[in-house]
Amino acid sequence: MIIKVLGSAAGGGFPQWNCNGPNCSTVRAGEPGLHARTQSSLAVSADGRDWVLLNASPDIRQQIHAVPELHPHRNGAVRNSPIVAAVLTNGDVDHVAGLLSLREGHAFTLYATQRVLDALEANPIFNVLDRSKVRRRVMPLATSFAVDGPQGPTGIEIEAFSVPGKIALYLEDMSAGQTFGTVEGDTVGLRVGGPGGQGFFYVPGCAHVDEGLKRRLSGAALLFFDGTLYTDEEMIAQGLSPKTGGRMGHISMSGPDGSLATLADVEIGRRVYTHINNSNPVLREGSPERTAVEKAGWEVAWDGMDVRLS
Ligand code: MLT
Ligand code: MN
Repeated sequence: MIIKVLGSAAGGGFPQWNCNGPNCSTVRAGEPGLHARTQSSLAVSADGRDWVLLNASPDIRQQIHAVPELHPHRNGAVRNSPIVAAVLTNGDVDHVAGLLSLREGHAFTLYATQRVLDALEANPIFNVLDRSKVRRRVMPLATSFAVDGPQGPTGIEIEAFSVPGKIALYLEDMSAGQTFGTVEGDTVGLRVGGPGGQGFFYVPGCAHVDEGLKRRLSGAALLFFDGTLYTDEEMIAQGLSPKTGGRMGHISMSGPDGSLATLADVEIGRRVYTHINNSNPVLREGSPERTAVEKAGWEVAWDGMDVRLS
């Protein structure tokens, strides 16, 4: 199985269009040690020919252009694409807005939970995806299924599972108390398997690590995990936003309840942070925070990162 990181930044990307925080201003100035990143998405393939998108970011056009494997096949029809399916982990803008760029009559299969499909259904702009070509399929929870493209199996198997998280920002119900109306199916993680039984986990959004998630991840060969913030209050401290990570439904890396600590004793072959917010000091190579995560055995994903599992 081939895994390509198309975008390793959280919503807003890096740099974010309206942000002059310390990371954004430094990367914009072109100083060494920081690298621009597009918004959260992976692509996976069992055979190197047909590709499945895991989330569809607003930067998808640029991401496809940057990855030759995702260009139209040269010996195909004048208009074609190797992208045969897309699987969504939530309804957040950074994970669904790219669907709008996948119009133009290309057939693919779209998988998401009923909750996320309901959000797309409620937004008629997504009707730009011609339903006779783009089939929307309900992704079950806790059941493995074969990912099919319009021409048949892709060789990729997925199991989606509920993780602690939050309803998409634009759907928050302020009258619903601390949950903002979040229910099961709003945020999922994926186990993605290839034809040889090899597999990895993709959890770009997660509010906290509970015992169930630890058990599930135990023994994993590879994990891509929510790397939004280093500390819960960093956006407030940098004057960027009044929100904590907890308020956004994202666990922090540091602290006793953070992912560094809570996943430290879980056996995972390779652990990689992705969905990294532009406020996160790990974006700065050589920073104390970057050094701390690397010492703890974590990698920080980058756009173009290519991982093979066999
Ligand atoms: C998130 O991951 O919290 C969202 O992408 C935030 C957003 O929609 O801007
Ligand atoms: Mn996001």
